[in-house]
Order: sequence, then C-alpha cells, then structure tokens
Amino acid sequence: MSAPTISVPQANPGGGYRALRGAIDAAVARVLESGWYILGQEVRAFEAEFATWLGNHAAVSCGNGTDALALALRALDVGPGASVVTVSHTAVATVAAIEMVGATPLLIDIEPDCYTMDPAELESVLARPPVGLPPIRAVIPVHLYGQPAALERIQAVCQAHGIPVIEDCAQAHGATIGSRKVGTFTEVATFSFYPTKNLGALGDGGMVVASSPELAARIAALRQYGWKTHYISDEVGVNSRLDELQAAILRVKLQHLDAQNARRREIAAAYDAALSGSTLAPPVRRPGAEHVFHLYVLRVPDRADVQAQLRAAGVGTGIHYPSPVHLQPAYMERIALGPSSCRVTEIAAQQVLSLPMFPELTDAQVAHVCGVLRSL
Ligand SMILES: Cc1ncc(COP(=O)(O)O)c(C=O)c1O
Repeated sequence: MSAPTISVPQANPGGGYRALRGAIDAAVARVLESGWYILGQEVRAFEAEFATWLGNHAAVSCGNGTDALALALRALDVGPGASVVTVSHTAVATVAAIEMVGATPLLIDIEPDCYTMDPAELESVLARPPVGLPPIRAVIPVHLYGQPAALERIQAVCQAHGIPVIEDCAQAHGATIGSRKVGTFTEVATFSFYPTKNLGALGDGGMVVASSPELAARIAALRQYGWKTHYISDEVGVNSRLDELQAAILRVKLQHLDAQNARRREIAAAYDAALSGSTLAPPVRRPGAEHVFHLYVLRVPDRADVQAQLRAAGVGTGIHYPSPVHLQPAYMERIALGPSSCRVTEIAAQQVLSLPMFPELTDAQVAHVCGVLRSL
C-alpha cells in the first residue's frame, strides 16, 4: 500500500517564498548586481528596521540563532567556569550554544500547560544550586512555540540573585507580554531566522538584540573576529555574519511579519473552534501575553494513533521535540538536571503533536484540517 499523499503539510517554507516571489526576486537581483555580499548596506538596513520593529533595542545580526545565543553569552562574559540554566524541552540549539562558549548547562523543568521554564524550579536551583556545578551566571528562558515564557516571575527571581536573563526568542518574533514584544525585556536577547520561523530567511540567519549601544558594539565586534577596526582583533571573536542576500530577503519578509502573525492566530482560532467538544484541548494561552503560533501544539496521550489518522486524511504533523535534550545520546547522563529531573518535560515529549501552521495555509486547507479534527 502506498503512503497517503500529504495535502496539508505541517510547515512550508517554499510557500513563504512563493507568496512574496516578486519582491524577493527583486531584492536578490539588487544584491547580486551590487557586488557587495557581506556586511553591507542590506545588513545595516535590516538591523535598523528590525530594531525599529522590535522597540528600543539595538540589533546585531549574525549567522544563525545558535550563534546569536553564544554571542549573547560571550557579551555577558559567561564562559568556562559558569553554569547557565535553561530548559530541556527546547531545540537542542539552546543547550548547544551554552556548551559552545565553554559554560555548563543546568536543565530544569517546564510548566505543564505552557511548556516554558518553570519559575518555581528556577527559584529552587538559584536558592540551592546543585553541588559540584560552577556558579550560575545566566538564565535562558525559551519563548517556545510562539508563547512567551513566565518572564515576569523569572526576571524577579533572577534579579534577587543578580543573575542576567537572556530571552531565546527564536520561535516568538512579535509575541508580546503586555504591550511589549519579547526580546525587549532583558539586557540581551536572541532570534533565529531559520526558514520555518515566523520571520524566516531562505537560508540561515540570526540576531542578537541589546539594550545598550555599548553591548551591541561588543557583540558586533565578537561576530567578526573581535574587530572594532578592520583586521585588528581587540578580543578573540568568531566569524558569524548574516550575508547581504539573506538580509535583503529578510527586509522584504519583515514588512509582512505582523500580518502573517495575525493570520497564524486566525488559523489557531479555527483549530480551537474545531476542537471544542473533542477530548483534545487547544493550546493554553498565557494570560496577559500574546502567542504568535510558531507552532500549534496539542497534547495527545495516544499520539501515534492520532498522527496516523491525520496522515491518512492528508494532514502532515510534526513533533517538537521527540526527545528532551538530556535524553539525547550526546547529552545523556552527563548533563546536570534540576531537582524535578525534568519529569514534566519527559511526559510532554511523548505527547506533543504540532498541526499544520504557516500563514500561507489556504482557507480550504484550514477547513480540511478542522474537519479531520472534528472527526477525531
Ligand atoms: C528555541 C530555539 N533556540 C535556538 C534556535 C537556533 O536557531 P538556528 O537554527 O538559527 O541556529 C532554534 C532554531 O532552531 C530554536 O528553535
């Protein structure tokens, strides 16, 4: 028997390109003709436009969202001899970045409803850090799936201990807490422009945003060999630059981001309505915050069965993420965990299921998914 054809994929970065083809092709042609391909006017313009869109922070682009986290840690002088607290229910990138700078990850649990860092467990590890670990020097909450983490409580706990917070906004471009966008609450925060993200390049890209021009200048130097002046390294840096082509493409896509986030919320509302009366609950929204639905994630105890039913009806799904970081072979049995041993995380990894979610989904595709959800 042949595999069913997927008529509604879970994600579709090619569709994102096709929807804006004329403007993107023109931007690419402009860069190709310019003869300037690295750190030029497109990058400068994109950084300025992103900073304006975000709020009052300075923006420094780089090669990808993992490098953005590593640069943010470096800018706060976090490295060997420091521990950094984050979650295990995240893209492995968050943890990889901590080890890239030579620091030691300490992974804690998530809140069961919102899937983001549990502030109560954070409070407990900051009050009584695990024996044998280097001192905790930073905390990285992840605004996962497009939903802001419990930042107010996280920041209050960290402030009491004098520990900086770095927001990982890779999945939450445009999400807000109150009237402010995530990425503006902390001294330094990071974004990814991986193609499927709410603001996605047609390749790799990342951004670090900083609350002070001094910090931004240091990050800008660190992303290019530690140069303040060309060819003179004041400190040891790396090479992590956004290229002109991606910057020009991202400038086009940034203009549509708010409308695309609104479309994601519209699709989420349609899925919510289709689920009413079913045994599956729609994703919980954090009060006072606005979700931007990078992913629409259900908790499904009999996941394999539901996934198979959706697949049979041509509906693609994803699992974000099938294994917590601490259970992956590269990290297993060597990564420090908080007192809960990430129990909530381990259950979530067995039950989460992501439905199709991207702004170019047609009304007919959304209606098809809703019909299948009603029949579950
Ligand atoms: C939560 C989170 N942090 C960091 C990253 C890293 O971004 P990139 O893939 O651009 O390195 C990603 C994306 O994969 C992510 O989802």
